[in-house]
Amino acid sequence: MLVAPSLLSADFGHLAQEMEWFNQSRADLLHLDVMDGVFVPNISFGFPVLKHVARLCQKPLDVHLMIVEPQKFIPQVAELGAHYMNIHYEAVTHHHRVLQQIREAGLHPAITLCPSTPVHLLQDIIGEVELVLLMSVNPGFGGQKFIPNTLRKVEQLRRLIQESGSQALIEIDGGVNLETGRQLASVGADVLVAGSFVFGTEHPSARIDALKSLT
Ligand code: DX5
Ligand code: ZN
Repeated sequence: MLVAPSLLSADFGHLAQEMEWFNQSRADLLHLDVMDGVFVPNISFGFPVLKHVARLCQKPLDVHLMIVEPQKFIPQVAELGAHYMNIHYEAVTHHHRVLQQIREAGLHPAITLCPSTPVHLLQDIIGEVELVLLMSVNPGFGGQKFIPNTLRKVEQLRRLIQESGSQALIEIDGGVNLETGRQLASVGADVLVAGSFVFGTEHPSARIDALKSLT
């Protein structure tokens, strides 16, 4: 299992220290939740903070943009040297165009679905993305409870990916812990995002190891 700890639950007063242990851990990606207070009812951090995090972090960045008009920020995400640029399906009208612009900027295009957005809407753009993120909570806050219907959506997405010949990874975000992680592994998830299960706990690296061992 690939694991992407979410910085949203980190100690923002000590980001440099957080990145020190994180760089030594077995985490695969750093998940970065950007919120604008419009697309979601919360504001997190923006590019001035991300620039410092990108300098401190030695692992690939998975930028999850919970913002309206994410296409406006393609150059800034590229400048961070990010790996995935993850836009919400619900925040964009011309998905195909925006995903191509993301690729042209040298980034890996990814798309996110809210819990109420059906998987079949991806049918005509699955070939344009390298990762699909299914939200397993309503976006905006860490520490929420996992929505069990996500398991059904993972199965549907796995089928769509197989039928279309896509290589996209399936990532899940929200309420991930060892129990929900085990369920997600059994239906075919590739990447688990984990915020409050990892950051702020006594042994964060051990928790990452535990999630990584799920098959
Ligand atoms: C929620 C964010 C998540 C959040 C997950 O809107 O997209 O990435 O950090 O937090 P946990 O793992 O605590 O549910
Ligand atoms: Zn996220």
